[in-house]
Amino acid sequence: MSKAPATAKVGRARTAYVCAECGTDHGKWQGQCAGCGAWNTLSEFVIEPAAKAAASGGATRRAGWAGAVEAPKVTALKDVRHMEDARVSTGIGELDRVLGGGLVEGAVVLVGGDPGIGKSTLLLQAVARMAATLPALYVTGEESLGQVAGRAARLDLPLDGLQALAETGVETILEHAAAMRPKLIVADSVQTLWTESLTAAPGSVSQVRESAARLVRYAKETGTAVFLVGHVTKEGGIAGPRVLEHMVDAVLYFEGESGSRFRVLRAFKNRFGAVNELGVFAMGDKGLKEVPNPSAIFLSGGSTRQPGSCVMVTREGTRPLLVEVQALVDSSPLSNPRRVAVGLEGNRLAMLLAVLHRHGGVLVGDQDVFVNVVGGIRVQETAADLPVLLAVLSSLRDAPLPDKTIAFGEVGLSGEIRPVPNGEERLREAATHGFRRAIVPKANAPKSGSVKGLEVIAVERLADAIDAL
Ligand code: TYD
Ligand code: MG
Repeated sequence: MSKAPATAKVGRARTAYVCAECGTDHGKWQGQCAGCGAWNTLSEFVIEPAAKAAASGGATRRAGWAGAVEAPKVTALKDVRHMEDARVSTGIGELDRVLGGGLVEGAVVLVGGDPGIGKSTLLLQAVARMAATLPALYVTGEESLGQVAGRAARLDLPLDGLQALAETGVETILEHAAAMRPKLIVADSVQTLWTESLTAAPGSVSQVRESAARLVRYAKETGTAVFLVGHVTKEGGIAGPRVLEHMVDAVLYFEGESGSRFRVLRAFKNRFGAVNELGVFAMGDKGLKEVPNPSAIFLSGGSTRQPGSCVMVTREGTRPLLVEVQALVDSSPLSNPRRVAVGLEGNRLAMLLAVLHRHGGVLVGDQDVFVNVVGGIRVQETAADLPVLLAVLSSLRDAPLPDKTIAFGEVGLSGEIRPVPNGEERLREAATHGFRRAIVPKANAPKSGSVKGLEVIAVERLADAIDAL
């Protein structure tokens, strides 16, 4: 679309090297930013004069998206059609859940994750199902069409209506899209995309950013939904494009432990739904299968009670989930004992151990403390505080918690146990899975009498919780 002849006589687009730290604009690449003195922070950008950018928008309008785009004018907001009304199901319930109830027209969704985690598989499954009802285009820059077709055949996917394209040049992709007018585009992956307007190598930050920006613009102008696949680098950010995160409408991360067949899709940002919503899948020989009732898989499964283990009810997104927190406390040979938290925040663990000493009278200063959430899941809410301390205590004393017991609750710095949202819903989830006893904040104890089959031990202070054991 950038090739469409501009009607107005306008200045040429130029490339500039912009510092990621301070934003200073340089005419050529250099190692050190002249503005702030930082090293290796310059990357290449296309800078279009404003008039030209407007003209290219006009060219797209003329290219045949009649009705899709109108000249902007001031409008009463209550008369505007809600974009979120136009949601379509992806045909995969757990993916719909993470998206906030289906895919919104014109939404750009970035799906990130480690290589091999199953991003291509998930999106191929989704797009194949959606292609039955709306025109869809699967653009692959990593695999050949033969590979994609082979995978689709192995997964027994319906392929009617699904169009595919092996291409990495954004201009070419958009030309094909303008001819075909899909309602859904999958670009796998964003790291392989490049645009003619930059000289930087494909995969570089500026190429990824600019290519994604073009697809975003196209999506907004035409109401086409776009899935972008992005690989996560070892450092954890989507390669280069932390910058992508604010350009797109939703960022979903695909997580999972290597060796485990379970995969968790998490909404990290979502303009059309709740963040931290989880979708759970299992990878099998027929691709990814939904796990609609995930509580069971995050418990270690063994019925024997072990010291250092506490089951908690977390509420990630909109549903409660039972997960097991494990702790190992062991006398340390180091003068500075280790505190290691996997699936939880490390600083919070250190803080909780201080509260345990100060308000519970339990000293672990000379012990290494390891805490892990089973199943490779990450718990980000404070409801994990109490279970973590109970698991630590259980390991320290080498005594398992009472059978069929769950806990949740935030622990404050003065040793008080604070309530967490949706207490009753969590208690019901625990009862459904056969738990008999719950150690919970006083304010979370059920107001409407009791939860069937569950003995609720309401605690106000950390010392009460320790006594309850
Ligand atoms: P893939 O979707 O290619 O990962 P990504 O696009 O995130 O890099 O997934 C590839 C992995 O999934 C690979 O290790 C094999 C495994 N897999 C299965 O176990 N079963 C299947 O049916 C498929 C298609 C893949
Ligand atoms: Mg892939």
